[in-house]
Amino acid sequence: MSALLIEGGKRLHGAVKVHGAKNSVLPILAAAILGRGESVIHNCPALSDVTASVAILEHLGCRVRTEGDTLWVDASQLVRSDVPDALMREMRSSVIFLGAVLARTGEAEMSFPGGCELGPRPIDLHLAALRRLGAEVAERAGALCCTAVGLTGCDIVLSLPSVGATENAMLAATGAEGVTTITNAAREPEIVDLQNFLRSMGARVRGAGSSVITVEGGRPLHGGEHTVIGDRIVAATYLSAAAAAGGEAELTGVDYRHLSTVIAVLSEAGCAIRSTPERICIRADRPLRGVRPVRTAPYPGFPTDAQAPVMAALCTAEGTSVFVENIFESRYRHVDELCRMGADIRVEGRVAVVCGGKKLHGAAVKAADLRGAAALVVAALGARGRSTVTGLAHADRGYQDLAGDLRALGAEITRTEERET
Ligand code: UD1
Repeated sequence: MSALLIEGGKRLHGAVKVHGAKNSVLPILAAAILGRGESVIHNCPALSDVTASVAILEHLGCRVRTEGDTLWVDASQLVRSDVPDALMREMRSSVIFLGAVLARTGEAEMSFPGGCELGPRPIDLHLAALRRLGAEVAERAGALCCTAVGLTGCDIVLSLPSVGATENAMLAATGAEGVTTITNAAREPEIVDLQNFLRSMGARVRGAGSSVITVEGGRPLHGGEHTVIGDRIVAATYLSAAAAAGGEAELTGVDYRHLSTVIAVLSEAGCAIRSTPERICIRADRPLRGVRPVRTAPYPGFPTDAQAPVMAALCTAEGTSVFVENIFESRYRHVDELCRMGADIRVEGRVAVVCGGKKLHGAAVKAADLRGAAALVVAALGARGRSTVTGLAHADRGYQDLAGDLRALGAEITRTEERET
């Protein structure tokens, strides 16, 4: 079993470049199959979810090669339109291939992404959008079979601004004749990044970053070239780590404007944060102060993905902090583990009350999901003594080198790789 060994209670001091955004690169890799040619994607993070996406691309007939953090995807010849169950299981967000495969081949077959560690994760909005575009979607025995004789541009109104549904609708709409308008679209920076990649492929897409996105579809697309934006959630994690441990950290490779709500909360807690277009610098002196209620919301609200690491940083703050998780039902699985380290957190449905002022101590803890893993590492850095964090397969989905990056920031952290017996 792999584990992170962390000697906590030491102030951080250092600098790190934040890698490319997981939530950008996954839809961009799916979009690459729309181009009849080779796409070049720079700043591609080495994550297990990226490996899973590459396996899907290769299964579909793409040729993929990697050099450093650049990925070449040659989608000149697609040979299949199905994603096997084993690959769907490896990565839940593989549902993002649905719209792209359908637009390129006129059909798509894959299993349902299934339940997940964050509670039920329906795809009804994805399927409704594809049906609006003219796809026939049959759902049987856990499998989805989509066919489209010819997709036609239409008005799609999402009942909530789902990130994945917005992306799937954008991808499918590039293959639809005429104009598609997506209203109540998600406004995340990763959607803007997808739009920029699609444009580099020759697609006519506008409006990403606002609530209305327009796609003029039916144009043949070629390979594109694009540099993926920096990962704002990885940045939020490292800012939280500095807040928890105290000290100074400098982050590059990420746009501070994508982190405004996270920076606001950590500043309210007492951290001094300076941002320029090139870097984000944080200085934190413990103890922090509790903050006003943090409510997760679609972008530009406070990101649900940053809730766990920021909560971990606030466990030792003086005073009480309240979190309200509005996006996912079951996103407090890190709480019990934080409490094993001495935190005092009470959860009631969507609300978590963090009674601060506690001293955390090192403990053996296990992550149950991706951002939960980040939270445990953040707490361990601020805790006195040694912690062991396991469940790292979750962390590897979204952090290229968590231990290496945190060492660069001055943390005492090592990773052990033990074979499972
Ligand atoms: C994406 C991100 C994930 C982030 C989440 C919210 C990727 C790969 N993942 O996930 O890291 O936590 O956005 O910012 O980009 N919903 C429905 N029906 C649907 C689709 C969604 O009811 O068809 C609901 C979900 O259950 C959830 C909410 O909408 O409550 C938001 O989900 P969504 O924005 O779709 O998240 P993902 O795209 O899955």
